[in-house]
Amino acid sequence: MRIVAIDGPAAAGKGTLARRLAAALGLPYLDTGLLYRAVGRLVLDAGGDPHDPAMAEAAARRLDPSDLGRADLRGPAADAAASGVAAIPGVRAALLDFQRGFATKGGAVLDGRDIGTVIFPDAPVKLFVTASPAERARRRWLELRGKGSDADLATVERDMRARDERDSARSAAPLKPADDAVVIDTSDLDAEAAFQAALAVVRDRLG
Ligand code: CDP
Repeated sequence: MRIVAIDGPAAAGKGTLARRLAAALGLPYLDTGLLYRAVGRLVLDAGGDPHDPAMAEAAARRLDPSDLGRADLRGPAADAAASGVAAIPGVRAALLDFQRGFATKGGAVLDGRDIGTVIFPDAPVKLFVTASPAERARRRWLELRGKGSDADLATVERDMRARDERDSARSAAPLKPADDAVVIDTSDLDAEAAFQAALAVVRDRLG
C-alpha cells in the first residue's frame, strides 16, 4: 500500500506538503485534522462541552463526510474544540475506520498527529514535519491575517503552544514521531525545499 503518513505539531506545514505530495504521486489526500475539527464543531453546535466524552463520542459517530466541508472549521474556537475532542479515546476509535478506509484504493497521503503511530503503523513512508514554535506561530498568524483576522502574534503563539502541549501530553494517541519516521524541520525551508526533502524520502521508501 502506498501510504504516506505525515504527522507533526500545529502549523508546521503538513497540509501544504501533503497536498503537493499527493498531487505528485497521484494519490488522494486526507487532512485528518478536519475530522476532529468537525466533531468539535458538532459538539459546539449542540451547546455542549468538547471535553464531555459522551457528547463528543456521539458527535463522532454521527459525523458525515459533508461536515468536513464546513466553512467554520478554522480559527481559535475550532482549534480548541478539536483538541478537546481529540483527547477522548472513544472519539478516536469512532474515526479510525473512516481513516483506514480512505486509503484502501491504492494508497493515500494523510496528515495528522497519529497517522504513522496508530492509524497506519506499517506505512512505508512516515514523515514527521516540524518547525520552531516561533516560526509556526508566525505562519499561523500570517494565515489568519490573510483571512481578515486581527489576531495578535503573541496570542496565536500562546494558544498554539498550549494545544501542542495538550496533544503531546494526552494518553490517547499522543503527538510524537513514529520510531521509523523521518523528521523534516521546516524552520529554514520554504514550501519548495520542504517538498523536495519529502520527495527524496518518498523515492527512497517507495522506489
Ligand atoms: O492545522 P493544524 O496543524 O493547526 O491542526 P489540525 O491538523 O487541523 O488538527 C487540529 C487538532 O486535531 C489537533 O490539535 C489535534 O488535537 C487533533 N488531531 C488529532 O488528534 N489527530 C489527528 N490525526 C489530527 C488532528
